[in-house]
Amino acid sequence: MDQSMDTIVIRGGKPLSGTISISGAKNAALPLMAASLLTPETVVLENIPVLGDIRTLADVLEELGVEIGGNGSGGEGGLELTAGHIEDTTAPYELVRKMRASVLVLGPLLARFGTAKVSLPGGCAIGTRPVDLHIRALEQMGAEIKLQDGYIQAAAPQGLKGADIRFPAVTVGGTENILMAATLARGVTVIENAAREPEVTALADCLVAMGANISGMGSERIVIQGVDQLGGARFTNISDRIEAGSYAVAAGLTDGDVILEGANAAHMEAVIEALRRAGIQIEDVPGGLRVRRNGGSLRGIDLTTQPYPGFPTDMQAQMMVLMAIADGASRITEQIFENRFMHVPELARMGADITVHGGAALVRGVDYLIGAPVMATDLRASVSLVLAGLVADGETVVNRVYHLDRGYERLEEKLSWCGADIKRITE
Ligand code: UD1
Repeated sequence: MDQSMDTIVIRGGKPLSGTISISGAKNAALPLMAASLLTPETVVLENIPVLGDIRTLADVLEELGVEIGGNGSGGEGGLELTAGHIEDTTAPYELVRKMRASVLVLGPLLARFGTAKVSLPGGCAIGTRPVDLHIRALEQMGAEIKLQDGYIQAAAPQGLKGADIRFPAVTVGGTENILMAATLARGVTVIENAAREPEVTALADCLVAMGANISGMGSERIVIQGVDQLGGARFTNISDRIEAGSYAVAAGLTDGDVILEGANAAHMEAVIEALRRAGIQIEDVPGGLRVRRNGGSLRGIDLTTQPYPGFPTDMQAQMMVLMAIADGASRITEQIFENRFMHVPELARMGADITVHGGAALVRGVDYLIGAPVMATDLRASVSLVLAGLVADGETVVNRVYHLDRGYERLEEKLSWCGADIKRITE
């Protein structure tokens, strides 16, 4: 079904109340799926969400020859991936262009087969987003890499060898690619200035279950002792801290009272701290988190996005909506991606008072937002428009909903169960 023309229509003003169940983390599921390329045995992944991005990576893996069983593109019952017969180590442009994270197949293919050809992800709506750090690190491990005809052509005929790698900037995908590659390299690999995101740790934990020898995950220095081969494993994915944070903002915005079932507070410290400063109450309850505002007013706060454990760039747009109706002014500084303020002109159309100066946005709180037709531009920008719609007066129509379907499982269902007036219109 082509969902590209769907729209989401929201009538704002309903406080959210009830329970929202948090799905498995998209950004952990993708590297976990790519890790299946490291072994001919079956890897079974539980708690994989049903999402556009998961389907896209499943298509890339199937193109390579991975057999995918269990529940096709995720959902109940686990996703089974078997890379027993890899026919071709090429990830073609038509698939990779849909999602940059497809580049996660590069490290595992090269490590296991000594060759890989992966399309360059190309431009993307949130800045140029290069993969130079992935490539440089693989070269340090002995790979010969050429960029030709829009493809990364990589070869390591003698296999990869361990290396001391210091990333000049923190990169989540780069750390994941090298972590996977190093599990089958000869000798020891040390990754310095490694990404500490919970998704990286989940990947390391799964690799260990497959037989890899890894220590230091979750810290800035990960040490991997290469092994000859990896085997199958069964692994349960972590819950989605960005989805949970997005619904926490929804509860706060609408002066609601919501239980986020399955949310993991330990992965959300910076977000919880920011929400509390902004006037939202968050408490641990058995199996999740309770979020409410209790009628209090929202306060403007300053925020700067940073690598984990700092405040995540993937929560910046959502937080900006909260600041748009808070008392006072807030300054939101984006340090991870250039050009990640594309939600600003759309929020301005709903009455928000925001000015962007380079990498920082100055948000002056207004009394209310007004519904409007708006256009989604990327995943997190899209959800911010839905959040704005939940609190705006009147009707908001969000176009280009396919961005949301890439990363938010059953969004309108989860919100309407809590009392939101939201529906999808399918053309
Ligand atoms: C991942 C997340 C994404 C999140 C981001 C930052 C997935 C699938 N996506 O993306 O949702 O917003 O982390 O938390 O997990 N960079 C380079 N060269 C490289 C690699 C990265 O210059 O080779 C730059 C990027 O352009 C960006 C910064 O480093 O400015 C961080 O990027 P990175 O951490 O690699 O993000 P992703 O892994 O793509």
